[in-house]
Amino acid sequence: MQVIILENPEEVAQHASQWVVELITKKAKPVLGLATGSTPISLYKNLVKSHQEDQIDFSHVTSFNLDEYHNIDIANEQSYRVFMKNHLFDKINIDQKNTHLPTCTQNENPRVQGLAYEEKIKHAGGIDLQILGIGANGHIGFNEPTSSLRSKTRIKTLTQQTLQDNSRLFKADEYQPTMAMTMGISTILDAKYVLLMATGTNKATAVNDMITGPLSAICPASALQLHEHAIIVLDKAAASELANQEYFIWANEEHQKINKTYGFFL
Ligand code: PGA
Repeated sequence: MQVIILENPEEVAQHASQWVVELITKKAKPVLGLATGSTPISLYKNLVKSHQEDQIDFSHVTSFNLDEYHNIDIANEQSYRVFMKNHLFDKINIDQKNTHLPTCTQNENPRVQGLAYEEKIKHAGGIDLQILGIGANGHIGFNEPTSSLRSKTRIKTLTQQTLQDNSRLFKADEYQPTMAMTMGISTILDAKYVLLMATGTNKATAVNDMITGPLSAICPASALQLHEHAIIVLDKAAASELANQEYFIWANEEHQKINKTYGFFL
């Protein structure tokens, strides 16, 4: 794992956007894995800015989102499709036909839908860079604690903690879905690079468990310890429970020298 500890959330977003911009400017057919939630919003703001001000082109990009609520209308304001349109897709020149979310309506078989999503990812050549957030309970995507470490895209029932954490986004009288389709942990581990962003003290315990804890289904993000190229970008608050911070800061300075000379990717 490459652990990068930065001063504040703005620096985290800035760093993450450098990875994305490098990928899409260097690769002919880049495949991006995207995430929803509060944390990546500032990354998307930076990407929109780089499109508007630096003419960064997204027309050749294919994207796959981590998750989507089960049986939600794609026009519903709470759907992750609308979230992505509002924060990114409608503001850049990506071809919306090449943007994918793991949908499943009431009349569709979630197992068939999950398999079809995996096939679409494979058909696109696999995900080059998967953006991730982390839940306070250690989830990645909607892979809640106790998720199988070998899981693929499938339907999951959300935990009370996740429902509680996300309830801030729903109005009092609004229906909050309790199930979602999500890429599995194995789907995420198959991405060539993963970049996890975490900010704020409410993530500090999950971040510490992910980096230094045992590999365990109780902290699904700990599965990233098995990934060949996992980049963990933290602000100081999210890193606050990590021992060995001096080592991570020093190792990152050394790493950045290599990145400067050879670029971020292999
Ligand atoms: P957040 O969610 O960015 O809204 O904190 C992260 C996640 O649950 O993956």
